Amino acid sequence: MVPELRQSLFGVEFQAPVLLASGTCGYGREYAGLIPLDELGGLVTKAVSVEPRSGNPPHRVAETPGGMINAIGLENVGLDAFASEKLPWLRENLARAHVFVNVVGRTVEEYAAVVSGLDGEEGFLGYEINVSCPNVKGGTMFGTDEAALAELVGRLRSETERPVIVKLTPNVPDIGIYARICEENGADGLSTINTFPGMLIDIHLRKPVIGNVSGGISGPAILPMGVYLTWRAATACSLPVIGIGGIRSGEDALQYILAGAHLVQVGTASFVDPAAAATVQEGISSYLAGAGIGSLSELVGGLRLPEHGQH
Ligand SMILES: Cc1cc2nc3c(=O)[nH]c(=O)nc-3n(C[C@H](O)[C@H](O)[C@H](O)COP(=O)(O)O)c2cc1C
Repeated sequence: MVPELRQSLFGVEFQAPVLLASGTCGYGREYAGLIPLDELGGLVTKAVSVEPRSGNPPHRVAETPGGMINAIGLENVGLDAFASEKLPWLRENLARAHVFVNVVGRTVEEYAAVVSGLDGEEGFLGYEINVSCPNVKGGTMFGTDEAALAELVGRLRSETERPVIVKLTPNVPDIGIYARICEENGADGLSTINTFPGMLIDIHLRKPVIGNVSGGISGPAILPMGVYLTWRAATACSLPVIGIGGIRSGEDALQYILAGAHLVQVGTASFVDPAAAATVQEGISSYLAGAGIGSLSELVGGLRLPEHGQH
């Protein structure tokens, strides 16, 4: 028996649950030939802003125990070049994998300009709204201010009929509040989570390792936090959730699925092995086959909680 990985979500069918995470797969083409992209659930592009951005000074990445720190600073080609140079490749080369465009801005107007500027183009399914980047000034402003988040999501809802997924920051006391704000203002789904703010110090130079001083922590070290916050978000609202953080294997991904995620994203693991997302997808399939489970959807939110204990 080959387990069923397909799920209907956001008005389409996802052939599989694994997507490449924003900022770790460029605009897709960078992974061509390294991984069968069109056999994945999909990918999320690097953040796209209205204008091109050159990002932060070096060093921009470094290894940390169990992961990495990055402060790329949302370097990207900007809206126009994305539409003319990057989107055509995605349109021509991906027939089954779905593409989300990760969107950033400094103001509601900037976010809205990216969405309205791209909305008439073909080659992608919807938007992942990044309100959670810890590496630029004001990058988490919309993700940590309830009124600002409500205004942004409501505005973007009025700009497009495509799926709007909001990527939440872990850096709030109760992620459930932000999940519900997204739902109430018309979002179609959530991505949990972006990186955690962190810092490394070179003790010999007595300087921060990262040029931006601080950065975002990702990789296996954040898996338990990602699972927890995904569970909190998924149980706080009825939106579908995409689980992200430290996923390297099918087992890791299944923790997110049991916590309530329908889909997952693989980020940092792709820097260790560019084919990591395919390995995760195969791992999910093998687990289901071994456990005699016919369909992945049977496991979504299937966590069994103890009757006692603080939830
Ligand atoms: C180098 C790098 C660049 C990233 N760029 C973005 C980005 O542009 N937009 C975004 O929403 N998330 C970005 N992220 C966050 C990832 O998409 C993901 O949420 C995070 O790394 C946790 O997943 P992981 O542990 O599997 O890497 C970036 C992460 C890394 C490591």
